[in-house]
Amino acid sequence: MDRVREGEWVLLWGGPDANYLSEYRPGKAVHSHRGIIHLPEDLLWGQALISSTGRVFYVIRPSNADFVLRLRRKTNIFYPKDMGLVLMYTDFQPTSRVIEVGSGSGAMATVLTRLIVPPGKLYSYDVNPRHQRVARENVAKYGKPENVVWHVRDVAECGFWEREADIVIIDVPEPWAIVPHAYRSLKGGGFLVSASPNVEQVKETRRVMNELGFFGIRTVELLMRDWHIREVGCRPDHRMQGHTLFYTFGRKVIEKVQKTTTVK
Ligand SMILES: C[S@@+](CC[C@H](N)C(=O)[O-])C[C@H]1O[C@@H](n2cnc3c(N)ncnc32)[C@H](O)[C@@H]1O
Repeated sequence: MDRVREGEWVLLWGGPDANYLSEYRPGKAVHSHRGIIHLPEDLLWGQALISSTGRVFYVIRPSNADFVLRLRRKTNIFYPKDMGLVLMYTDFQPTSRVIEVGSGSGAMATVLTRLIVPPGKLYSYDVNPRHQRVARENVAKYGKPENVVWHVRDVAECGFWEREADIVIIDVPEPWAIVPHAYRSLKGGGFLVSASPNVEQVKETRRVMNELGFFGIRTVELLMRDWHIREVGCRPDHRMQGHTLFYTFGRKVIEKVQKTTTVK
């Protein structure tokens, strides 16, 4: 049987509207709107606990999304559904060298630092030290701070310090101003990801990407909808997040060939 170790995060799951993220300490009392949940000396993953008001809570492992949705926010963030896109449409590996701008509230940084292992590293930039402080606090709480290097810097003005990165992720209002710096910092074949709420930003970013020598450029958005599954009347939820961000992906080529001739 798998025991919860002291200091590990557990999700105390009492139903879709009653779940609590807590660091495990033996003897700790977790206050919920369904009574107090006492964490025993020995706690097993998957165990059921009964609160002071007689409600059942299961001790389960939090998902990456469970952490992201509880972050303190100073800015807009990447949503979990979109983070899946970023990982799947790049060649992200635990040992990747990833650059991101901006750090924002540290949502993407929290997840990436949880996935990265040395010699992989995240280099996270933000021009606003107050935003980056929140990102650092979130990563310290829920992520792995040893896997990130923080820089306070206006990247549009000054660029990135690092070279030979595997992936550059841009989430700023003027991504096109960052694209030339991303080009310089990426390996040949490396991936650029740019996230923007508006199509005007996407068009300008793609124009610069095309000029510089990115190929395979593709822009997508991802819509996700929950469903109610029951005996009768299965249907989608009436509410959903209608729009988060457009994601533009491209790969760096080191020489751009304008035209080829076919040899007969
Ligand atoms: C929407 S937030 C990024 C959110 C982040 N992706 C997350 O998941 O939490 C955008 C951030 O970009 C920063 N920013 C804007 N322009 C910048 C620039 N030229 N250089 C560095 N950071 C910049 C802002 O200060 C802000 O914190």
